[in-house]
Amino acid sequence: MNSQYKTDLLDLKNASDKEYFALNKIINAVRYERQPDDPPIPLEETTNQLKNLPSFVDLKMWCIWNKDHSEMIAQGNVGLMRTEENKHLAQFDIIVHADYRRQGIGKQLLGLIAEAAKADNRRLLLTDTNDRIPAGEAFMQRLGAQRGLEGHVNQLRISDLDHNLIQDWLEQGQKNVSEFELGVWDGIYPQEQLQEIVALLDLTNQQPFGDLEVEEMHITPEQLVEMQKMDAARGNQRCTVYVIEKTSGKFAGYTETVWNANRPEILRQDMTGVFPQYRGKGLGRWLKAAMLDRQLKLHPEIKFVRTTNADTNAAMLRINNELGFKPYMTSILWQMEIGQVLEYLN
Ligand SMILES: CC(C)(COP(=O)(O)OP(=O)(O)OC[C@H]1O[C@@H](n2cnc3c(N)ncnc32)[C@H](O)[C@@H]1OP(=O)(O)O)[C@@H](O)C(=O)NCCC(=O)NCCS
Repeated sequence: MNSQYKTDLLDLKNASDKEYFALNKIINAVRYERQPDDPPIPLEETTNQLKNLPSFVDLKMWCIWNKDHSEMIAQGNVGLMRTEENKHLAQFDIIVHADYRRQGIGKQLLGLIAEAAKADNRRLLLTDTNDRIPAGEAFMQRLGAQRGLEGHVNQLRISDLDHNLIQDWLEQGQKNVSEFELGVWDGIYPQEQLQEIVALLDLTNQQPFGDLEVEEMHITPEQLVEMQKMDAARGNQRCTVYVIEKTSGKFAGYTETVWNANRPEILRQDMTGVFPQYRGKGLGRWLKAAMLDRQLKLHPEIKFVRTTNADTNAAMLRINNELGFKPYMTSILWQMEIGQVLEYLN
């Protein structure tokens, strides 16, 4: 263990201004290494996000300070989700400032994370790495962690987008209007439909999960409301475009994006899904085209759209490749047994 530096457990909702400032600074230092062209996250966004963490997310975060306690040099956190599913899992993240790597600090934080997860009866740790900072993958390989799911963050440059293709897909989509109808929720979901909406969001379970030992997740209306509150507090503007089958009134699929005025040139594309009984009718293309058309008109500043896809997600990659998405960075999800981690640490 490296004990020359002071370690604190941060009170995330009630940290001091100095702690929030130092935390935001190290988050942005590592963000700059990973995405040098992107703007930094404003202090206010980080602070508001942490102060509004949902009650079902039990996040423990340790910080390591330099010798005169003026700069945070590392941060490690573990999320213990208080949900009905995945009680065996704990998700963690460690960042060490580039000037302080290879001194055992990452290992020290991993020890705190593994002990907290074990004390909470968790069995499996999950984290992700990317190829922009290869040290993350080196650390995981040293631990003997297993690659659970390999994917990429894919990016569409709007300057490369063929706007005629979007118009074609919208026209193709119009052929479905006798059977299906598009709709939009901007910002928060309608309160009176939350039960149907959480059933629609269950589509997230149909993405490939590779070798990850994870159970299906079913978000509850109460959890969704808390997630929306945190999103709003950090300035995330969510847009959902959905398709309804007219005869039954049932949701057939949806797509979601997040735009934030703190990084107006980047649109984050989240989940897109169509229930199996409605596939093969062009609804996925219709949803994506309607979303892009709408968001580009609403936010003409957007220059990039980014999305994370499993490399095995052939259906989604087909649509994204047609739109012109290209690999931006890798995204590997790793899993490891806590027993194995403790063995490595000892
Ligand atoms: C990954 C990261 C946290 C490692 O922090 P660190 O303080 O340098 O790690 P440590 O010094 O404790 O090293 C832990 C082990 O990984 C190995 N390791 C770390 N970086 C390595 C590298 N670049 N190449 C090869 N091995 C490396 C160390 O040799 C050590 O192995 P050992 O137990 O045999 O001595 C740091 O590089 C970082 O912040 N990266 C960006 C964020 C990230 O990718 N995090 C990983 C996901 S949680």
